[in-house]
Amino acid sequence: MTDTDLIAAARAAALKAYAPYSRFSVGCAIESVDGVVVTGANMENACYRLGLCAEVSALTLAQATFGLDRVARIAVAGGDGSGGELAGASAVTPCGGCRQAILEAAQLSGRDVEILCASGDGTIVERHTIGELIPYGFGPASLADAG
Ligand code: THU
Repeated sequence: MTDTDLIAAARAAALKAYAPYSRFSVGCAIESVDGVVVTGANMENACYRLGLCAEVSALTLAQATFGLDRVARIAVAGGDGSGGELAGASAVTPCGGCRQAILEAAQLSGRDVEILCASGDGTIVERHTIGELIPYGFGPASLADAG
């Protein structure tokens, strides 16, 4: 899948967000090493702190569909989904917790997973790797010395 297609999948997924509290819709598309794509969107809750981010939502589907160790590329987009098409001018980067969750998948495979961070309207795209977004991260590799 091209970068543009993966971002389009993330933008489309954002339209399925359940975000009545923040009104900020986020979508995430994850591509496996074999080209299989799964998506997720944020899911908020009246007990605010229980809300789920789009990336974690998509990672759970990636786990069930092809396995976390097969995650190759991720696209994220977010903004205003109320108009039937995702809008927004600023690139959305994964929050700290989502970076940690992506790091888990990355260290399982030894792959520096690429993350395309797009604006809601899809016109701005920032390219990062998980290693750039969470340097010196604590992941499964950090537990090598456990008993
Ligand atoms: N959100 C995500 O889904 N992913 C992120 O990486 C950043 C934030 C969601 C959480 C909440 O539902 C809304 O965006 C506003 O923070």
